[in-house]
Amino acid sequence: MKKTLLLKVDPNTPQAEAIQVAAEIIKKGGLVAFPTETVYGLGADALNPKAVKALFKAKKRPPDNPPIVHVGELQDVYGLVKEVPKKAEQLMKKFWPGPLTLIFKRSKIVPDETVSGLDTIAIRMPKHNVALALIKESGCPIAAPSANLAGRPSPTTAQHVLEDLDGRIDAVLDAGPTKIGVESTVLDLTADPPQILRPGGTPYEIIKEVLGEVELHPVAIADRKIHVNKARSPGMKHRHYAPKAKMVVVEGDLEDVIRKVAELADYYKQRKAKVGVLATDETATIYRADVVKSLGSRNRLEEIAQNLFRLLREFDLEGVDVIIAEGLPTEGLGLAVMNRLRKASGYRIVKVG
Ligand code: TXA
Ligand code: MG
Repeated sequence: MKKTLLLKVDPNTPQAEAIQVAAEIIKKGGLVAFPTETVYGLGADALNPKAVKALFKAKKRPPDNPPIVHVGELQDVYGLVKEVPKKAEQLMKKFWPGPLTLIFKRSKIVPDETVSGLDTIAIRMPKHNVALALIKESGCPIAAPSANLAGRPSPTTAQHVLEDLDGRIDAVLDAGPTKIGVESTVLDLTADPPQILRPGGTPYEIIKEVLGEVELHPVAIADRKIHVNKARSPGMKHRHYAPKAKMVVVEGDLEDVIRKVAELADYYKQRKAKVGVLATDETATIYRADVVKSLGSRNRLEEIAQNLFRLLREFDLEGVDVIIAEGLPTEGLGLAVMNRLRKASGYRIVKVG
């Protein structure tokens, strides 16, 4: 067990001393969790193979699922990749810093450990002053998967990070809850047309506006289990975001969904299960269950995305046996939310109507 240092920082103007302490740890090959605009990441020097190995170990992450490499400036990309396609330049200009991760062909200076032996690399520039200050002060690109134990919901607060990783990492920079709440969109630019491998903070619709042509990979939609045998997106085959409880997602028109969620809640209740319902502001008062939580208003998907992972963790802390979740529309941020819910349910999806 290590002693994990808790470093409180201001999210907008982070204190220089805290950033220096954290950067020293990164430079020495240590592990520091830090906030981004999406979720907290667990950082290591992306060019130090030993540090990256330690990163996988701390998270108990399967070695075939590479992390995202975070840069502090646009030009930092050029050394890490073989080439920067025109489309990438367009997207970087428009969306960076921000919740969009791009897949490139990688250059030779990137250690195999950082990309799990692939010939591609995932890169993004986060939109958070703490993350940017840490990268700058460390003087290296920072490899950072979400700062949770593998398979657990991503952390949106430093407390979530500590729930999973206290004693396993060197430090955490605590700047309060993250803004977006779901991870970045992962876009593969080595495919033609470009393909979204994971929906996230940058919606499909606005990427399409810029690129004209962009596809959604079936695992991004995640409405059924896909057997991926190609090593193109490594993370696709691993279980994700899973709460400890069994989870069911009910999808369809709202009225049908409400009826089915209520019916399932009664069904599990009769079988003596402790039942949780993941509802919305418009519906939460309708249900009789042991624990009913609202993600927020159906009219405010940003709020729903912000609350999602926190509520999944809360259900676990309350010890519910089953969570019944209302499906949401898949437009805009809704697709990212539904991707997480469907995966969290292990694809236990009930379609109604
Ligand atoms: O918002 C985010 O993206 C957060 C914050 C910390 O930046 N990070 C994050 O990282 O969610 P992680 O490691 O939990 O998810 C990275 C995703 C995984 O699904 C992984 O399989 C995929 O990116 N990925 C990484 N390298 C890849 C590559 N070369 N080709 C395809 N997919 C890749
Ligand atoms: Mg993750």
